[in-house]
Amino acid sequence: MCGIIGYLGPKDVVPLLIEGLKRMEYRGYDSAGVAVYDGKTLNTRRTPGKIAKLEAALAAAPLAGHVGIGHTRWATHGPPTEKNAHPHRSADGTVAVVHNGIIENANALRSALQELGYVFTSDTDTEVIAHLIQELFDGSLEEALLAALSKIEGTYGLAVMCDKDPNKIVAARKGSPLLIGVGVGENFLASDPSAILAHTRQVVYLDDGDIAVIERDSYRVIDAHATPMSRKVDRILWDLAEIERGGFDHFMLKEIFEQPTSVENTMRGRLILDDGTAKLGGLNLSHDELLHIDNVIITACGTSWHSALIGEMMIEELCRIPVEVEYASEFRYKNPIVTDRTLCIVMSQSGETADTLAAMREAKRRGARTLGFVNVVGSTIAREDDGGVYLHAGPEIGVASTKAFTSQVVALALFTLKLARKHDLSVVRGREIAQAMHHLPDQIRTVLESAKAIETIAEEFKDATNFLYLGRGYSFPTALEGALKLKEISYIHAEGYPAAEMKHGPIALIDEEMPVVFVAPHDAVFEKVVSNIQEVRARHGRTIVITSRDEPNLKGLIDYEIRIPETLDMLMPILAAVPLQLLAYYIAVKRGANVDQPRNLAKSVTVE
Ligand code: F6R
Repeated sequence: MCGIIGYLGPKDVVPLLIEGLKRMEYRGYDSAGVAVYDGKTLNTRRTPGKIAKLEAALAAAPLAGHVGIGHTRWATHGPPTEKNAHPHRSADGTVAVVHNGIIENANALRSALQELGYVFTSDTDTEVIAHLIQELFDGSLEEALLAALSKIEGTYGLAVMCDKDPNKIVAARKGSPLLIGVGVGENFLASDPSAILAHTRQVVYLDDGDIAVIERDSYRVIDAHATPMSRKVDRILWDLAEIERGGFDHFMLKEIFEQPTSVENTMRGRLILDDGTAKLGGLNLSHDELLHIDNVIITACGTSWHSALIGEMMIEELCRIPVEVEYASEFRYKNPIVTDRTLCIVMSQSGETADTLAAMREAKRRGARTLGFVNVVGSTIAREDDGGVYLHAGPEIGVASTKAFTSQVVALALFTLKLARKHDLSVVRGREIAQAMHHLPDQIRTVLESAKAIETIAEEFKDATNFLYLGRGYSFPTALEGALKLKEISYIHAEGYPAAEMKHGPIALIDEEMPVVFVAPHDAVFEKVVSNIQEVRARHGRTIVITSRDEPNLKGLIDYEIRIPETLDMLMPILAAVPLQLLAYYIAVKRGANVDQPRNLAKSVTVE
């Protein structure tokens, strides 16, 4: 979603802000802007659309200076126009504000400020903050911000500059991530570490309620009462190369091809082959606590929700503990049955999804132990959970989740293995699962060898207007994920269904125009899926079938076959997801879609 960058130091600020904004493009945005202090006054440039347009505006009317803030906006209040783009200025032009989040009492504040004579020029909630700070300014920008925050309700990651107190950026965080990048003779502010990684690895993650006062040679963090807060300096562990395309046409393709490594990294040091179990250091649950879990709730959104469905099956099958999977957006407003023996697993690639975070807080409030399965280190969910499992998939830049999904399933398999061995899974069966997991990276390499063949299939189906994805058992969530991948990046309508459920409605859609993707590895329900494939063929549907064996039963039923290696049923989604990702990718590319930044989508959805 929206991105924030700020800089104070010796470098020319404009190229630095632009570079930082470009590094956050993957998060999704529809307008961009910068504010720069040129030594005398504060000036802004803002444009709707992509950052290239902002660069053009800056080329036509350059800005220069050594202190500045920049923003990419994903529209919530008001369309993506120049007047709604950030930074927003106060009426007298002295204050510039960039803001992620939503000010809930913006209407009331707007009316109060209008009564004082302030004229509003945008449709946004953010503009009230700029006017409010102008109104409350009395020589110190941080004091004006503190006073303004006491009147604001809502969520924010905020950065503010003022040309009456010019050599500082003040920032505040409540519900929207922000970090300080600590340099030598220079300091940074960002909502995403990728924005500043080219300049420093030393970061201070702000907590909710923190206010930061950042100057060129120093920074301090205070709370709402101006009490100094001590915050530790963390080190970003990933490399710049991981957030660059490295010869691939798109981040999504790079990330699909990274999966042998990302899956290996999720398992590294955790899979214990001899004992048939897993070591997960961050759970913060004792042996007894693990044994006394009565039920598990897994809450998530989107792709993470699909991995949760796979986790549900694994945990119920191997640990015999009841599991419920809840859309985070629904869970947070329900009256769920949660006890202090409920374990709530919170699945989130970004660790910042607003609904998932709220669901976790609700589960916690009701007494559940929470475990975050998160990719982004230092993210809010990772910081607020009781314990967790980092995915270690490396930064995922493509908006459509690929490697994070397979790592989520692997992390859930590790957790299941550990929990099941604490219950009554035998060492023999534990070893069988651990061995099968150990082979996954090589098996994914084998699947990736089909990329060219899948590209040919994509050529055949690129003009389809609808797709059905069907699977049973562990392959049902995989089918859902395949359909989501296709629709979000190619804009082709696609539905995932349990294969047998097709007969209860969707079968009416099947004719010679309808491609149907079957996820049909040779697992416990394979024979059943063959009957469903026959039903589609009987109605002249076109079949693309992901299989794991040469099967006489399938002869004559398949238009296109994609072969994956055999593994345990519970691990099949990890292998079957890869060709589905490739199919969606190639179809989208052939339709000319912007694969890495699909329209209307954001990498982390930080609004409700
Ligand atoms: C789809 C996708 C989204 C996310 C969802 C939750 O490719 O990436 O559906 O899975 O927005 O995001 P996280 O996992 O960051 O909580």
